[in-house]
Amino acid sequence: MQIKNLEFRFNLSGIHFRHCQYEDIAQVIYCNRATLPENYSRYTFLSMLRTYPDLFYVAVDEKEDKIVAYIMNKIDTGYPFLRKDKVIITKGHVFSIGVLKKYRKRGIASALLALAFKAMMKRNVEEIFLEVRVSNTPAIRLYEKFRMKIVHEIPHYYADGENAYVMAVNVTDTIDIVNAIVDFLHAHNKVIDNLSGDINA
Ligand code: COA
Repeated sequence: MQIKNLEFRFNLSGIHFRHCQYEDIAQVIYCNRATLPENYSRYTFLSMLRTYPDLFYVAVDEKEDKIVAYIMNKIDTGYPFLRKDKVIITKGHVFSIGVLKKYRKRGIASALLALAFKAMMKRNVEEIFLEVRVSNTPAIRLYEKFRMKIVHEIPHYYADGENAYVMAVNVTDTIDIVNAIVDFLHAHNKVIDNLSGDINA
C-alpha cells in the first residue's frame, strides 16, 4: 500500500507498533544483536527506556507475538547542524534502529522512524540527526526519504574504523512526511497506545 503522493510502500499485515515495555527488553536486545554490529549493554537499553520511554518503539509480529524491529532515540542539546548561528538548540537523536532480515522492505523501518520523529517533535526538537556507516546504503536511502541530508563525516567513528556520516533534518522539512505516515498508521489501527502518562497525550 502506498500513501498518496509519497514514495513509501507499506506491507504491514500482521504487524503493529507500540511503545517498548520493560518485558520487551530481552527481545529488543536480540533484534539489536541480529541486525547491527553496534551492541549495547542491557543497562544501556534499560536506561534509554527509563529516560526516553516515549521515544522507544517496537514492531510486533502479531501471529508470533514476537518483536521484529525496534527504534530507540534520545534528546540532545548543541549547536545546529543546519544553520550557521551558534545557538544551543534541542535535537532529536536516532540512537539505534534495526529490523530483522525476514521483515525488511515492508515499510517497518519507515513506520518506526515516523512514529519516533513525531514523538521527538512533541518534545519540541528543532532538528533530528543520526550517525550511519558510510557503507550502509539501505539505511542512507531510508533516511533520505525523510529528507535527511549528510551534514558531516566523522572519521573512524565505529569500533572497526569505519567512518560515519552524520545525517540531519530540520523538523519543518520532514513534518509533512511524518504526519502522513503516522496518520496512515493510525487509520489502519497499526499503533497500540500502551504508554501511560502525559507525555503520550
Ligand atoms: N537497498 C536500498 N534501499 C533500501 C534498502 C535496501 N536494501 N532497504 C531499505 N531501503 C530504503 C528504500 O528507499 C526503501 O524504500 P522502497 O522500499 O520504496 O525502495 C526505504 O528505505 C524504506 O524501507 P523500509 O522497508 O521502511 O526499511 P526496512 O524495514 O527494510 O529497514 C533498515 C531498513 C536499514 C533499518 C534495515 O535494512 C536494517 O535493519 N538494517 C540493519 C540495521 C541498520 O543498518 N540500521 C541502521 C543503522 S544507522
